[in-house]
Amino acid sequence: MKKLLALAVAGCMALSLAACGGSTASSAPAASSEAASSAAESAAESVAESTAAGGKIGVCIYKFDDAFMTTYRNALQEILEGKGYEVTVVDGNNDQNKQNEQINTFITQGVDALIINPVMTSAADQIISTVKDADVPTVLINREPTADQMSAYEKLVYVGCDAAQSGTMQGELILDTENKGDINGDGKVSYIMIQGDPENIDAQLRTEYSVKALTDAGVEVEQLDLQRGDWDRNKGQEIAQNDLAKFGDQIEVVFCNNDDMAIGALQAIQAAGRTVNSDIYLVGVDALDAALNEVEAGNMTGTVLNDAKGQASQAVECMEELLGGKTFAAGEQSVYVDYVKVTPDNVAEFK
Ligand code: BGC
Repeated sequence: MKKLLALAVAGCMALSLAACGGSTASSAPAASSEAASSAAESAAESVAESTAAGGKIGVCIYKFDDAFMTTYRNALQEILEGKGYEVTVVDGNNDQNKQNEQINTFITQGVDALIINPVMTSAADQIISTVKDADVPTVLINREPTADQMSAYEKLVYVGCDAAQSGTMQGELILDTENKGDINGDGKVSYIMIQGDPENIDAQLRTEYSVKALTDAGVEVEQLDLQRGDWDRNKGQEIAQNDLAKFGDQIEVVFCNNDDMAIGALQAIQAAGRTVNSDIYLVGVDALDAALNEVEAGNMTGTVLNDAKGQASQAVECMEELLGGKTFAAGEQSVYVDYVKVTPDNVAEFK
């Protein structure tokens, strides 16, 4: 099943507007194999080239203690090491000053390329000007700056997903239920929203578009509460626990901007004696293993695959293109991997 998924992902990536690895993108390896005089020689040469891809790569992660970014960074490390790069992955501990120092250290050490998951989206200008001054090709991941900010440096790409799409899919998961989320039949869907770090565009757009999917479908909504859970399981649990105590049966839908907070919310829902898919709905984003298990068991209404492995391989592809000398024009510096809706019907494909 994983293979099927990989194919689906490859298909989706091919559809992405500025996907790396397209026909214009593979000039470096192609040139060397053309020079070989026989097929055997050329095969040997390309193997040597890929194992000795070499080069020092610095990877900055906003904090290691994030469930989704843990899967993502492990995938990045595996892919990069598998290709023969010397990789160092560092933990920003959710501290932008610390990450700035890490970026400077990598630059001083002479890395060939950087992959950076910024701590603060608002630090993008500073990060971009630092890597530009040092002339280090850079792939930003997970926290998307504006196209305008990225246009300052042509050896810079962002790899991520279109956050609005994941929000829309969360709303659709609710619309797909038998009562479209209106469990008590009072003509409106009453929900709580457990938000990620609101500085992050993923949190902003998931919050907006999940609800918009309902209102666009003509469904009336009532927001009982919106609170920041900072992507964190414990905070998700606390917020849901307080809201369940305060609003009780009024809550029909719990929207969580990510799965880790949804798993926390599920603990509170179960402790309050409520039953998902019967008297309350619960949706997340990421398709963490724990969430896939809960979707399968009927304890979460659904989730949305945030394809960490697909994004990691896309990030490495883009990095290799930058190393091969490719530059990215303004307005074409964002590369998106598609989200996928996960329900009990298709969850087995993702496990
Ligand atoms: C993921 C969250 C994660 C966040 C980190 C989001 O795309 O859905 O789980 O905590 O990225 O920036």
